[in-house]
Amino acid sequence: MGNFPYDAVVFDLDGTLFDAEEGIVSSVRKAMEEMGLVIPQGAELRQVVGPPLRYSFHDLLNVPAERLDEAAERYARIFRSEGMYRYSVYPGIRTLLRVLKENGLYVALASSKPQELCEHILQVYCLRHYFDRVIGETDNHAKLGKPEMIRRALPEHYRRAAMVGDRLYDMEGAKAAGVDGIGAVYGCGSEEELRKAGADRLVSDADALRELLCPGVPAPRGFFLSMEGPDGCGKTTQANLLEKSLRQMGFELVRTREPGGCPISEKIRQIILDTENAEMCANCEALLYAASRAQHVHQVIRPAVEAGKVVLSDRFVDSSVAYQGGGREMGVEMIRQINEPAVDGMLPDATVYLAIDHDTAMKRRLSASRPDRLELESSAFHGRVQAAYEELIERDRRRFIVVSGDQPAEEIARQVLRQVLRRLEPGCEQEGGSTWKES
Ligand code: TYD
Repeated sequence: MGNFPYDAVVFDLDGTLFDAEEGIVSSVRKAMEEMGLVIPQGAELRQVVGPPLRYSFHDLLNVPAERLDEAAERYARIFRSEGMYRYSVYPGIRTLLRVLKENGLYVALASSKPQELCEHILQVYCLRHYFDRVIGETDNHAKLGKPEMIRRALPEHYRRAAMVGDRLYDMEGAKAAGVDGIGAVYGCGSEEELRKAGADRLVSDADALRELLCPGVPAPRGFFLSMEGPDGCGKTTQANLLEKSLRQMGFELVRTREPGGCPISEKIRQIILDTENAEMCANCEALLYAASRAQHVHQVIRPAVEAGKVVLSDRFVDSSVAYQGGGREMGVEMIRQINEPAVDGMLPDATVYLAIDHDTAMKRRLSASRPDRLELESSAFHGRVQAAYEELIERDRRRFIVVSGDQPAEEIARQVLRQVLRRLEPGCEQEGGSTWKES
């Protein structure tokens, strides 16, 4: 292990790893509605995030004492079926956890949520495998309290440990357990609250925390993911849904597209797709796609992947192989040669291909409101595009994730997410995609 200030780190859950506000507030609101209670005017619902729930219901929301049990039960049910699926992992947390594990630090969780719920939330968001130990409350009637939880979360032997949390309870707990307290000011507690409670250090975001815990260690290489398919396969809808899920899970995503993705390449896109450019020859078209790609790789894709981001590109060089190589019958070899300097070694780590049958795709294309120059091509052209894609997939089975586009959009999204998570987080032992489950 490097020369790092700590060899063991314990994290709080809500407000430290996860932005929990929407999940908690919406569950509280729904529980109050179900009970026929009115949320008091001027009550700042955000304040319910952090303090014990009974305190929030009674002191902040005026729930009568005799109905507190009912409120707590309703809240727990709603939170488990809906609220927890509205969490989001703070940007940079996933990279931080990965860096901590890759550098041999011990990582644990200490949260006042029930133990099994902590485990479940970490699994749903594909983070469980980063934790050596998870400590939550086991019995609601005999609370362990934060200091005891931190003690239990720590390993048997350590040189120096820190507790990272966003509220005074975390900092006070750290003191009582004899470890350093690192205050996460991006969470629910204020800087003042954390300072007063004795925080040894304060961090403004997960990147600052990474620099504090593993100084000088750069973010690991990111991931290049492309999406492909014939026109009309529903690729853009699916890219939107995938983007939303991955962001919610804390992947730092750069969404882009081809042709385009940066100002120069977007200008080239206009020329290529303009229906007035009917006289454009195949060589010109193929070279323009490659030219726009060269700038895109140089300016967007490579810098983002090197900075540790996940790049999600709507189409990449496979489109040129399929459309110009197959559709325009220029041949795969010629297209590869033209694109070598454009791609410059930057090939996708994985490619999602949405498969759709020829007739359905043709119908969808023709019903587009303003079909572009390529969408207006003949059925035979699109048939050749599809055949070229199929050959590409056959040759490179390991890179392609093939999902049928002939299903309801939500089902496609579920399958795509599950398979993409397998590539992005090979350490994630549970079946990915659970963030969809009951939301
Ligand atoms: P676009 O409107 O982005 O379509 P889609 O939503 O289907 O991606 O237009 C891109 C068009 O350009 C599409 O018909 C595919 C085609 N294309 C190629 O022919 N070669 C390429 O290298 C790329 C990237 C796209």
